[in-house]
Amino acid sequence: MAIADLVLGTMYFGTAVDESTSHAILDAFAEAGGTTLDTANCYSFWRSDTGRGGQSEAVIGRWLARNPGVRERLVIATKVGVEPVPGGPEGAVEGLAPYVIRREVERSRERLGIDTIDVYWAHADDRDTPLEDTVSALGELVRNGAVRRLGASNYATWRVDRARALAKARAVEPFTALQLTDSYVRPRPGMPAATDHRFGAVSDETRDYLDAHPDMEVWVYSPLLRGAYDRADRDLPDGYDHPGTTRRLDALAATARAVGASAGQVVLAWLMHPERPVRPIVGVSDVRQLRDALEAAELVLDPADRARLDAAG
Ligand SMILES: NC(=O)c1ccc[n+]([C@@H]2O[C@H](COP(=O)([O-])OP(=O)(O)OC[C@H]3O[C@@H](n4cnc5c(N)ncnc54)[C@H](OP(=O)(O)O)[C@@H]3O)[C@@H](O)[C@H]2O)c1
Repeated sequence: MAIADLVLGTMYFGTAVDESTSHAILDAFAEAGGTTLDTANCYSFWRSDTGRGGQSEAVIGRWLARNPGVRERLVIATKVGVEPVPGGPEGAVEGLAPYVIRREVERSRERLGIDTIDVYWAHADDRDTPLEDTVSALGELVRNGAVRRLGASNYATWRVDRARALAKARAVEPFTALQLTDSYVRPRPGMPAATDHRFGAVSDETRDYLDAHPDMEVWVYSPLLRGAYDRADRDLPDGYDHPGTTRRLDALAATARAVGASAGQVVLAWLMHPERPVRPIVGVSDVRQLRDALEAAELVLDPADRARLDAAG
């Protein structure tokens, strides 16, 4: 795989990662040949004093404005659906009603300062809005040129399939990408993965669906489990403590030694399987972490290394 397949996650840009560091990361990413940015209208409300999102898109927008010509070389992805409702009950989010989608796409385009969003993600399923309404509203955005492509994040696979069938019946753009979490170690069966979303993790069912639908791309979020593979100050999340993890961490350490890379870099290289279109979304908070990810994107695991990793756990 290559740097162009890596996605830069910008969730904390403008909140936990200050603007000048965010811009330095974006500069280094673009200079290295990085192509794809992932953000959301709600990033990152939980790290902001206002309790509202939008900071990440705004930081990207100001960086694009300072770098004329760079936008044409980039794929810019953003999301709608989980921004909190102002003054609403605890945990209430905007959802995916047509009026929310139409309002939020304009706000995202304005913050980013772009005419067309390359990939627009439904951030999480909204079971209170008829799926056909969401599908039609998203499809309309492609038809009117506000958006190029659509993706679904944190959806149950059956709901993605149903949405695609509804899009086909209405002759509108379907979802052609999934955004879910995945990594090398996996939680114990029955334990939630490291995501707040019930259907947020890649499962065997997801892989089966992807095998049968080659037009679908998958982007995986939080692949480094917040740095836990390499950092003594970060534990693996609850639910990952089981014998399979021990075997996988041993195989990872052996592979990292063999190829002269860090464990996190091997995880990214392993995920970027040459025969399966998985695109890791890396979160970084400084340029050094970005460089580690860029090196990983160019790391080619030989068949013996890959076999050792696949066989463990
Ligand atoms: N669709 C969704 O629901 C969803 C959910 C979550 C995330 N996402 C997307 O996925 C992206 C990545 O998510 P994430 O931040 O949770 O990813 P992650 O891969 O689990 O963690 C990223 C964190 O790992 C640490 N790290 C990264 N590289 C490192 C290195 N070389 N050495 C040491 N530590 C390192 C950093 O922590 P420190 O900053 O503490 O140093 C960094 O912020 C987000 O930006 C967002 O675009 C999507």
